[in-house]
Amino acid sequence: MSVTIQGADAADNGLLEWCLERDYASQEQLERATHQGLVLVARERETHVGLLRGSWLHEVVPMLALVWVEGRSRRMGIAAALLDAWCRQLSSAGHPFLLSSSTDGESLSAAWHASCGFERCGEIRDYNEDGSDELLYRLRLSDRSAAGPSA
Ligand SMILES: CC(C)(COP(=O)(O)OP(=O)(O)OC[C@H]1O[C@@H](n2cnc3c(N)ncnc32)[C@H](O)[C@@H]1OP(=O)(O)O)[C@@H](O)C(=O)NCCC(=O)NCCS
Repeated sequence: MSVTIQGADAADNGLLEWCLERDYASQEQLERATHQGLVLVARERETHVGLLRGSWLHEVVPMLALVWVEGRSRRMGIAAALLDAWCRQLSSAGHPFLLSSSTDGESLSAAWHASCGFERCGEIRDYNEDGSDELLYRLRLSDRSAAGPSA
């Protein structure tokens, strides 16, 4: 399988619509993130198969906002490859780590974070509307191997 990973093109309205159907962000938020270079897209030939949107905590700390891979394209390393691409950008810019989070009880998310090297670093109790906690993860960029994406 040949998958390419690129920053999202702000002029590509079809891509924006595709992202909006998968992301919880509003159109305005997605457009802003795209202009800031925070949206990465995985493509297999001409088909979009994965999406990563980064964000900034307190304007300075990188935080993973969303990673999504189409159902038929899962377990092929695409989410890991999207993460690798963003990590390389962050490392080059001198960031020592990035943060992420997931709702307590999301076993898929927990497994994916662990497999990518994230470590639990805290929680926010009663964060979600249903009363569940939000688990915080940290990925130390200096600990990551120099290996490239597997997709
Ligand atoms: C979570 C998600 C992004 C993973 O995408 P993916 O491209 O399939 O993930 P990868 O192929 O990079 O998986 C890397 C590793 O994560 C773990 N993993 C991924 N999916 C898993 C699953 N369903 N069950 C258990 N472990 C899983 C595995 O260790 C996997 O390595 P392996 O395939 O060699 O065993 C994808 O399932 C998805 O879009 N889910 C819906 C959105 C979502 O839940 N997002 C939250 C993620 S933080």
